Amino acid sequence: MSKLKIAVQKSGRLHDDSMKILKEIGISVDNGKDQLKASARNFPLEVFYLRNGDIPQYLRDGVVDAAIIGENVLIEKGDDINIVEKLGFSKCRVSIAVPKASKVKSLKDLEQKRIATSYPNTVNYFLDLAGIKANLHIINGSVEIAPNIGLADGICDIVSSGSTLFKNGLKEIEVLLKSEAVLATSPRISAENQTIINKIQFRLKSVLKGRE
Ligand code: PRP
Ligand code: MG
Repeated sequence: MSKLKIAVQKSGRLHDDSMKILKEIGISVDNGKDQLKASARNFPLEVFYLRNGDIPQYLRDGVVDAAIIGENVLIEKGDDINIVEKLGFSKCRVSIAVPKASKVKSLKDLEQKRIATSYPNTVNYFLDLAGIKANLHIINGSVEIAPNIGLADGICDIVSSGSTLFKNGLKEIEVLLKSEAVLATSPRISAENQTIINKIQFRLKSVLKGRE
């Protein structure tokens, strides 16, 4: 019998809640702290523990059939990927922030400014919409430090509690988009595995309804 391959964040903010929601829909899998792959005991499913940023490509190529992933990552790297269900956890926003004393008040003030970000496609999309040209510095993490070390005039990154912005003396000036964890599927999923996804979606809907 065919098994559904599902990607889950290996470590990081989505991991625990992703495993929790699988458990809540009655799928028990071993935790992925030490292994990269685990099978469910009571459901035709294999979990692959992967890095967030790699997941859109795996979905596109059909290496995995489905994933639990942040919507923001799909918007950045996988706008061809199908979202099956919003999962209601890991809520955050992707925002522009600048140093507290900065005169930059909105996107329009970013013309020719330097923006550090791990989300270049997302930033470019919104800058283009506003008709603004800025210089992007692409960095993979600790983005909020960039203005303090003179690398950028502002940043675009994920904001959840806001504490990273606060600790780095930054203020949020524009929310580009809101995001939460979603169940997404590969465009190459087989009909057989799609029926497994349909079962998962059915169970998710009742769990999510129960949480309301
Ligand atoms: C993420 C994100 C922000 C922060 C937002 O970083 O890149 O920096 O969390 O959360 P907050 O608003 O609750 O402070 P993470 O700690 O995952 O590290 P990284 O940027 O180095 O990947
Ligand atoms: Mg960060």
